Amino acid sequence: MPDIGYLNGHFSPLEEISISPDDRGFLFGDGVYEVIRAYHGVPAFWSEHFNRLIRSAKEIKIHFSIEPLQFLGLLLSGLRQSGYQEGKIYIQVTRGVAPREHAFPSNGAPTVFLAFRQMVALAVEVCQQGVSVITLPDTRWHRCDIKSLNLLPNVLAKQQAREAKAFEGIFLRDGQVTEGATSNIFAVKNGVLITPERNHLVLAGVTQQQVVILAQEKGWEVQFRPIRLSELLQSDEVFLVGTTIEVLPVIQVNGQPIQDGKPGPISIALQQSFSSYLAGLTLS
Ligand SMILES: Cc1ncc(COP(=O)(O)O)c(C=O)c1O
Repeated sequence: MPDIGYLNGHFSPLEEISISPDDRGFLFGDGVYEVIRAYHGVPAFWSEHFNRLIRSAKEIKIHFSIEPLQFLGLLLSGLRQSGYQEGKIYIQVTRGVAPREHAFPSNGAPTVFLAFRQMVALAVEVCQQGVSVITLPDTRWHRCDIKSLNLLPNVLAKQQAREAKAFEGIFLRDGQVTEGATSNIFAVKNGVLITPERNHLVLAGVTQQQVVILAQEKGWEVQFRPIRLSELLQSDEVFLVGTTIEVLPVIQVNGQPIQDGKPGPISIALQQSFSSYLAGLTLS
């Protein structure tokens, strides 16, 4: 099955797509993106990702407009052409192509690029056993609510985690946990779920939102509030959430086990509820 690409109105095999070296996404990271996962051919939470993409573009003054159903049409068309039922769709919108100058070009259209690849999910054993994370300083800008292409701190954090044989780097700002390099984080204490407030320092995660809904449906309290590192280490449970990882228990932070170093019951229950939710996804 071929990976499929889409560039400014045209689908083609992904490998045939080329982007101008003068694209501002390439030169400046001047753009925004989303990642959407498709399950049995259905793009999960597509309207939430659509709304966040439009908002991100607006916040950095990229004039990008597309109707929601037209956007869904692109997703479904790309998936159909790729043949992938379990897909990973990358969407990037940049400020377009212009000779390199920092200020915006006076005219020009955004570059709209999509890539449709097969989703390679995490190994079942990893999801069941849980993962280790490390913490590191949050050196990102103060607009982490925008899903911008400028991911250097996230790239460096993920690499530092990999070198420490950990799965994820968790950012700390002023001693408080914000989020992972590619995930949101939850702590659980005495049956209450705690996750950092979604604001200019923390991306409003689509998975985080759905997990909050599932937890509340189960009658569990969810608090959006700061988590200090010391509180994280003393939690009953910790887990990560994100489009590509779904719900992933954390069993160790900075080499220190969380409780007995095994995934906790609330993490496992939410992991299962989220999976069931996804299994039941339909297009309507
Ligand atoms: C910094 C950051 N936080 C959180 C998330 C999780 O967001 P979502 O659940 O919408 O994928 C991501 C996902 O890429 C991310 O990059």
